[in-house]
Amino acid sequence: MRKKLVAGNWKMHGSLAENAALLDAIKPALQGIEAAVCVPFPYLAQTQAALAGSSIAWGAQNLSEQAKGAFTGEVSAAMLIEFGCRYVIVGHSERRSLYGESDELVAKKYMAAQTAGLTPILCVGELLAEREAGVTEAVVARQLDAVIAAAGVASLARAVVAYEPVWAIGTGKTATPEQAQAVHAFIRSKIASLDAKVAEGLLIQYGGSVKASNAAELFVQPDIDGGLIGGASLVAGEFVAICQAAAK
Ligand code: 13P
Repeated sequence: MRKKLVAGNWKMHGSLAENAALLDAIKPALQGIEAAVCVPFPYLAQTQAALAGSSIAWGAQNLSEQAKGAFTGEVSAAMLIEFGCRYVIVGHSERRSLYGESDELVAKKYMAAQTAGLTPILCVGELLAEREAGVTEAVVARQLDAVIAAAGVASLARAVVAYEPVWAIGTGKTATPEQAQAVHAFIRSKIASLDAKVAEGLLIQYGGSVKASNAAELFVQPDIDGGLIGGASLVAGEFVAICQAAAK
């Protein structure tokens, strides 16, 4: 049986005071439960100090595809390692759609993360128009293929995939457990056609309006191995309840 992993994605939210309260609340409540929070870069030191020695890991939401050099405003994988990060989100739909990140750039960031020893959380997912046009699987396959072509299928043994239908992100519209399961099963079978063992061990998270009230019905699906949580990860009670649902 695969374990489940819930990761919070704080996006561009928080302040030193708000984070302190949130981290203080989730740390004791998640004692012994494996979970993660992906925080804005300036809060990595605070998060590292607050969560050191707990079972909660931390990470970032983006990184540079470059190792170092004259890239103003960018943050390298090695820098994230220095702050104790285990995870980094790559290819979030907000990066793809608002900041023009291509499948090829996402693949480069994925490789930069792994080269430094970080576990990338690779986000894939379709737009509403793509779902309505019946091309969900083609879109997700294209996003996965770019990474597999660049890094190889074996690299997925050191990664997490997050299926995040764009129409479900921050909208309150969750994919039904059946809709999510169908895409998760597609992702796993696609990878299984290349490497059955990697596919069997791969954690595939669902993201998109996960809340305490719908987490259990999603996580009970056979190919949903936890979640990537946006808004609800900013509310201690919600995040704790979601993590507990995954740990059952
Ligand atoms: P919400 O949970 O706010 O819908 O966000 C999902 C997400 O984008 C996590 O990366």
